[in-house]
Amino acid sequence: MTETLRLGVNLDHVATIRQARHTPYPELMEAVRISERAGADGITMHLREDRRHIQTQDVYRARELIATSLNLEMAATDEMTAIACNVRPDYCCIVPERREELTTEGGLDLGRHKRRLIDVCQQLAADGIMVSLFIEPSEAAIDLTLEIGAPIIELHTGAYADASGGAQARELERLTRVAAYAAGAGLQVNAGHGLHYENVAPIAAIEPLMELNIGHSIVARALFVGLERAVREMKEAMNAGRRADGS
Ligand code: PXP
Repeated sequence: MTETLRLGVNLDHVATIRQARHTPYPELMEAVRISERAGADGITMHLREDRRHIQTQDVYRARELIATSLNLEMAATDEMTAIACNVRPDYCCIVPERREELTTEGGLDLGRHKRRLIDVCQQLAADGIMVSLFIEPSEAAIDLTLEIGAPIIELHTGAYADASGGAQARELERLTRVAAYAAGAGLQVNAGHGLHYENVAPIAAIEPLMELNIGHSIVARALFVGLERAVREMKEAMNAGRRADGS
């Protein structure tokens, strides 16, 4: 096995608990410190248009504090692009966003928004930000990513996470095939969404994957064992999956 797999810890739901009561706690920056101490390779935050969890100020404070890397998830809007160019996260992951959704439900419609995505990717890249596109695992989406010019993709693992049995095996096969296709085309390949302690190992074994972005399951586990142990356990589950592929 070549590279170790990076874990980007998504802390949105620490902010969800805080915003439920508009209290100053739980302290998001403390969650950043603990996650990094526990072995997070990066911190991910999704600044949504409706500010339901992460607030604009959180992103600025995180930029100051984060010692690993900051990955800002955002929609391809003018407002978000302006904030990103100001904050200068290490990475921006462009995601589709709908106000009524509970979480990011699908990958970007690259064909429909191609012109806009080219524009946003160019603006972010000009400020030295590495751009990633959150996409459905398909060869067609990889081809469009290459046309748009983003250097990184994040493959949506939601369909894999929601499936079981043979359907899940087929989703895993699809992710494996598309990850190899993307890496062969020179893209950095990440993945995420819906991953938890029980389903992460087969994904971690997909060799071209460089990073997994995981949030909800880690924050949920942290309620019982604390954030530090929850992050460590996820790293262990990922490492075990990576070793289990036999190479
Ligand atoms: N990657 C992207 C692009 C996402 O939008 C999300 C959810 O915010 C995640 C990863 C993390 O998903 P989860 O919270 O289900 O682990």
